[in-house]
Amino acid sequence: MTAPRVAVVTGAGSGIGRELALACAREQMALVISDIEAGPLAHTQALVEALGAPCFVQVCDVSNAADVERLAQASWRAWGGVDWLFNNAGVAVLGPAWSATEADWQWVLGVNVMGVANGVRAFVPRMLERGTPAHVVNTSSAAGLATLPGSAVYSATKHAVVAFSECLAKDLEQTGAPIGVSVLCPSLLPTGILRSQRNRPVSLAASGPTAAAYEDRVRAGMAASPVDASDVARMTLEAIHARRFYVIPHAQTGASVERRMQQILGDFRAIHQESTQ
Ligand SMILES: NC(=O)c1ccc[n+]([C@@H]2O[C@H](COP(=O)([O-])OP(=O)(O)OC[C@H]3O[C@@H](n4cnc5c(N)ncnc54)[C@H](O)[C@@H]3O)[C@@H](O)[C@H]2O)c1
Repeated sequence: MTAPRVAVVTGAGSGIGRELALACAREQMALVISDIEAGPLAHTQALVEALGAPCFVQVCDVSNAADVERLAQASWRAWGGVDWLFNNAGVAVLGPAWSATEADWQWVLGVNVMGVANGVRAFVPRMLERGTPAHVVNTSSAAGLATLPGSAVYSATKHAVVAFSECLAKDLEQTGAPIGVSVLCPSLLPTGILRSQRNRPVSLAASGPTAAAYEDRVRAGMAASPVDASDVARMTLEAIHARRFYVIPHAQTGASVERRMQQILGDFRAIHQESTQ
């Protein structure tokens, strides 16, 4: 009997992470699921095992490099290697750019950016050494491709994840290693992310004020989403199989990206076409 392929998912206790784990289980993969919250993670484990997939569970704070290194060690001990890594855990704060506290920045940068960096640092060297085909998916957001008022901190971290993933893909391509990369960029969809504060460390508790209007806008955007977390997971696995880099599940994201690019190029042309006339 051949060994099953193995997927690791961070932030697997809820939302998109849970659905990514279930989608991998449906592909008969073995799972390593992790989250900072043990209770919801155990629930995901039960759902994965109900699909007949073997599942190893480890609580892990992705902003803590030592935790993520332990997750990689445990994954190799449990299954002897990892085929797909989903750096998915993420949190959000809302509010105008100037209102974010230092603790807001530290918390959201720690989870959204350092969480992805820690995953890549711990897993990719082991994947390279193993030498077998593998894939890394980093969860960014449509807020990593375009921008909206009230999202400065979140959007800054998600743009960082897109840039980091693009560089990671180029670095891997240069080595010739059979490791693909995708960056997942959903727009708003209903998950637990509006309740991100539930996982905020006490040491970083000092948050800026969140205007109710921003939360209302996010809630309305989530409710209007034409896709849910299971659709996003399915599209992500399709992208891995097709070796597509950008995974953009919402049709409306195309127009936001186009508007941003047009503004960049419009301002660029205003300088460069004028200076050549
Ligand atoms: N829901 C959306 O509208 C949306 C849109 C675009 C991108 N995303 C991204 O999708 C990813 C998943 O979020 P979601 O929407 O499913 O939200 P969610 O809150 O339902 O799930 C996020 C999971 O991450 C876990 N988590 C939080 N902090 C952690 C930490 N320090 N270490 C490990 N795990 C931690 C939470 O416990 C939770 O289980 C995030 O990166 C988020 O930014 C979400």
